Amino acid sequence: MRIAMIGTGYVGLVSGACLSEFGHEVVCIDKDQAKIAELNKGRVPIFEPGLDEVVAANARAGRLSFACDLSAAVSQADAVFIAVGTPSRRGDGHADLSFVFGAAEEIARALDGYTVVVTKSTVPVGTGRKVEDIIRKLRPTAEFDVASNPEFLREGSAIEDFRRPDRIVVGAETERARNVLKEVYRPLYLNETPIVFTSRETSELIKYAANAFLATKITFINEMADLCEKVGADVQEVARGIGLDGRIGGKFLHAGPGFGGSCFPKDTLALLKTSQDANAPVRIVETVVAVNESRKARMAEKIIEAFGGVKGKTIAVLGLTFKPNTDDMRDAPSLVIVPKLQAEGARIRAYDPEGAHEAKKVLEVETCEDAYEALAGADGVVILTEWNEFRALDLERVKGLLKKPLMVDLRNIYRPAQMAEAGFTYVSVGRATVG
Ligand code: UGA
Repeated sequence: MRIAMIGTGYVGLVSGACLSEFGHEVVCIDKDQAKIAELNKGRVPIFEPGLDEVVAANARAGRLSFACDLSAAVSQADAVFIAVGTPSRRGDGHADLSFVFGAAEEIARALDGYTVVVTKSTVPVGTGRKVEDIIRKLRPTAEFDVASNPEFLREGSAIEDFRRPDRIVVGAETERARNVLKEVYRPLYLNETPIVFTSRETSELIKYAANAFLATKITFINEMADLCEKVGADVQEVARGIGLDGRIGGKFLHAGPGFGGSCFPKDTLALLKTSQDANAPVRIVETVVAVNESRKARMAEKIIEAFGGVKGKTIAVLGLTFKPNTDDMRDAPSLVIVPKLQAEGARIRAYDPEGAHEAKKVLEVETCEDAYEALAGADGVVILTEWNEFRALDLERVKGLLKKPLMVDLRNIYRPAQMAEAGFTYVSVGRATVG
């Protein structure tokens, strides 16, 4: 099967590479000539574990290629995926669909023979219909269907998520389109991965509902963490105690500094706009957005309090990205926390295993080559992202490097008892402060 993937951002690149691994012939298209030139040299512009290898192996096998010419790829394709960006539109939180509609116009001009056009970008309900209208208007007699196929990949584990998804969601209006998508996902279909075939609108909403629900779960446990701190309970035990109930489930119940990234903040906002336009408010999600936003600033206050004021102090910050195993800084809690600490007079020495380069573009921060370099001579350390390498720091060495043994751990990667024993003052989230 021949596939054209429009957009070589995160979703397009991972999906294109993994679909070629399924045996399809995939051309990934992007307007950015420099990026395509790099990809053709085997250089992958984002950090995602395992992606380099999948790209290299399939490019070598001749199944995966990169090009700027959309029309050649689309005219030969059985399925064309739209995986371009849908950023929040400036000012109102609506998803900006100009890239999606622009791609639809270009696809329309290039269609040749029956083709299924698939929106993979996260798009508001009703977008598939609009894409169909755009194409129909430009090419009234073209043979095509427009389907929705949202992705549920997590940054940092996207390759695994693609190979072994919990489910695939396909919104399609015709049997012909459904059959093409069944063929696209054939290896997974044979593996008995559940495929939810539904209408386009339902499929589009499933994506937003899933992300909003997960964001709600995180926000719920974050508020429970605040309550735990007040009443002397332990949020990790609360999470375990409720998560063992199969109806609740233990995942996405890690309290922390608030959710960030390229998806939850943008998608919850876009869902709110859709719900307001439809006059069907989703008040829970409204609250989730507000609570999460204020949480990041409150985390800075928590740090300031733990340090007894930060004016003139040096703080070692471990982790800047919104989560581990990515270099993505979009909506990372560090973007709120670090400037607030700096505004209060702190000097920040940060270390992030993969994010320093991206972080430098959005934060004015001194970065170090490793955790211990950041710690040397600092007044205390703050853990903002739970990279694995921070889980097993040599605590004696850490203590020796810091002016005072103070750790603020906003990801709860250490145990209070262990930290007390190691002689630290240890402040975490939703658990008792020790030392
Ligand atoms: C999220 C979803 O998990 C994916 O299913 C979805 O495909 C993707 O958005 C998307 O729409 O493209 P991602 O943004 O990569 O994936 O990251 P998550 O692992 O979901 O984490 C999001 C944020 O929530 C991070 O800031 C993370 O630190 C935070 N989080 C997550 C918590 O604070 N606690 C948790 O228990 C889990």
